[in-house]
Amino acid sequence: MIVTFTANPSIDRTAELDEPLLRGGVNRIRALHDGPGGKGVNVSRALHLAEVASVAVLPSPTTHPIVAALREAGVDHRPIPVTSRVRTNITLSEDDGTTTKINEPGSTIGPDGLVVLRDTLVDLAADAAWVALCGSLPPGPAADWYADLVDALRPTGARIAVDTSDAPLQALADRLPGSAPDLLKPNAFELALLTGADGDRLEQAAAQGDFGPTVRAARALVDRGVTYVLATLGAAGAVLACADGAWTATPPPIVPISTVGAGDSSLAGFLLAHVRGDAPADCLRHAVAYGSGATALPGTTVPRPDQTTPHSATVAVYTR
Ligand SMILES: Nc1ncnc2c1ncn2[C@@H]1O[C@H](COP(=O)(O)OP(=O)(O)OP(=O)(O)O)[C@@H](O)[C@H]1O
Ligand SMILES: [Mg+2]
Repeated sequence: MIVTFTANPSIDRTAELDEPLLRGGVNRIRALHDGPGGKGVNVSRALHLAEVASVAVLPSPTTHPIVAALREAGVDHRPIPVTSRVRTNITLSEDDGTTTKINEPGSTIGPDGLVVLRDTLVDLAADAAWVALCGSLPPGPAADWYADLVDALRPTGARIAVDTSDAPLQALADRLPGSAPDLLKPNAFELALLTGADGDRLEQAAAQGDFGPTVRAARALVDRGVTYVLATLGAAGAVLACADGAWTATPPPIVPISTVGAGDSSLAGFLLAHVRGDAPADCLRHAVAYGSGATALPGTTVPRPDQTTPHSATVAVYTR
């Protein structure tokens, strides 16, 4: 079983505009779609479609549209009522493909709520192969709360994955190797934040076949105690580094539709391959197949297994 934790979930509301967005004017909406949002929720949705047991833990009132949406999607979920509301993140979508995002910070979780969330994760981790800590933090916890959670989860024996950015990522990195997770999934810009590289350059070099700079940056994190570093590079693919070596992957050919949530699907692809005992190269293969599968689908749609083509991804051992 894989536990996902979405610390700062949201209702993702997409509004399709009739006309180009007019700042300061009246904008009319043609259609409105609501869906359950948050990185851990996306990972659990992809795992559910692949028939891999997963439970999505999230701070939320027990009766809330996000809970109803997860139930409807068939995703096993555990709303923890430590907050009275869930934020709504708005995407304004124009016909030419331009999207404008308006994100709420999320509702504050107090110290008692943080303890309840931690204890719930520790309880569930007893039966879990992996616990994935995903996304931004809500207002309330200190930036290094994910590092605290890694420490609390470590004795359970479950492996721990973290996919976050900005201050929570930096704060976790500042606590390596003591609070090192088993897996980090930075994108190029997150990896650059941690290692002083340039994110654009990492992606550009990889797109030209030179994965060296990304492998070096990923290995620096392995040297600081992280077991697996899965560095995703957008259209250029991904790199996996661990103590046994490094591998590179170029995605299967796809027509990109929406990259939103691609990284969440990459993480799901890695985890579903890892829990069935695949070797690192095949875990990476499934990570890029799932990321690219998600990219070929609209909005935040996550792929079903038959919407991924792992055998069309090019995976190679990095030998230098
Ligand atoms: N334009 C693209 N074409 C093909 N595959 C893509 C493209 N963009 C992303 N992908 C796939 O998705 C994976 C993850 O993409 P990316 O590195 O952009 O994740 P991310 O920035 O973490 O995304 P998220 O928005 O979910 O946080 C890539 O490794 C690749 O497999
Ligand atoms: Mg990401």
